Amino acid sequence: MTRTSRAFDRAADSHDQTRLLPEPIASAGIQAILANLHTRRSALLLEVGAGTGRISLPLLERGANLVGCDLSLPMLRRQHEKSAAARLSQSDAAWLPFAARQFDGLLTIHVLHLVGGWRQALREFARVLRPGGVYVNSWNWQGRGDVDDRLRQYWRSRAAGPGADWRRPGVQSREELLAEVRAMGASVAELLVTRFYLEIAPIDVIGSIASRHYSETWDVPADVFDRSVSELRAWASQEYGDLSRPLPAERRFLLDVIRF
Ligand SMILES: C[S@@+](CC[C@H](N)C(=O)[O-])C[C@H]1O[C@@H](n2cnc3c(N)ncnc32)[C@H](O)[C@@H]1O
Repeated sequence: MTRTSRAFDRAADSHDQTRLLPEPIASAGIQAILANLHTRRSALLLEVGAGTGRISLPLLERGANLVGCDLSLPMLRRQHEKSAAARLSQSDAAWLPFAARQFDGLLTIHVLHLVGGWRQALREFARVLRPGGVYVNSWNWQGRGDVDDRLRQYWRSRAAGPGADWRRPGVQSREELLAEVRAMGASVAELLVTRFYLEIAPIDVIGSIASRHYSETWDVPADVFDRSVSELRAWASQEYGDLSRPLPAERRFLLDVIRF
C-alpha cells in the first residue's frame, strides 16, 4: 500500500533556519548540480520538492531556466516571498501536471523519502524528461558511527514501537531507489562533488530532535516522544560525558546522475 506523502506545511516557518546550506554545498554543490543538469543552452529544468527554494533560488541566481514544484503551498509561499520571479507549481511528484518530454533536467534533493508514491514519481520523472534528459538526485553521505548518526539511531530505537513510527513514507534507502531506476532500464553515474568536515556537539543533535523540526519526529505520539528524548539524554550523557563538547564528523555531497 502506498503511504501518504509528507508535505512540509508545518515546517515552512522553521525550514530555512534549521536546514542551513553548508558552504561547500552552497558553492561547489550548486555549481555541480547546474553543470550536470544543464545539458544544452537554455535547458528547461524542474526541481521536484523545491520547498522554500534553498536549492532552486541559487540555481535561478546562476541563470537556470527552472520551474519548481512542491506538495506544500506554505513552503512554496516562502519561496515566492524570497523571489517573486520563481515559477512554481503546487503538485505531487507522483502526478506531475506537465506534458511529456518537456524538461531537459530534473532535480530532487532530500525529497523521495517523503513521497508515498515514489515509484510512480520515478515514472513521472521519466515521462516529463525529453529523450536524452537527465535526472539528478542529490544526497549527503554521513559516516556510520559519528555522533549525529549514533544519537539519531539510538533515538529511533527508543521511538519505535506500537503506534509509533519514525520512518518516512517514501523510499527507505539510496539502494532501494537505485534498484528501482535500474529496473526501469536507467543508467546511473555516482558523482562525489565534495567532502567536508564539521564539529557537532551531542547537545545540538539532541536539541534538533527535541525541537521536532525534522519530519521523522512528527508521527511519534507525544508521550512516546517525550520518553524517547529523556532516554536519549540519559544515554548520551553516559556515552559522551560533556554533551557540549564538539566532536568531528565527515560529510560528502554526492549526485546520482540518472538517464532513463
Ligand atoms: C526536506 S524538504 C527539501 C526541500 C528542498 N529540496 C531543499 O533541499 O531545501 C522536502 C520537500 O518535499 C516536499 N514533498 C513531500 N512530498 C512531496 C510530493 N509527493 N510531491 C512533491 N513534493 C513533496 C515537502 O513538502 C518539502 O517541501
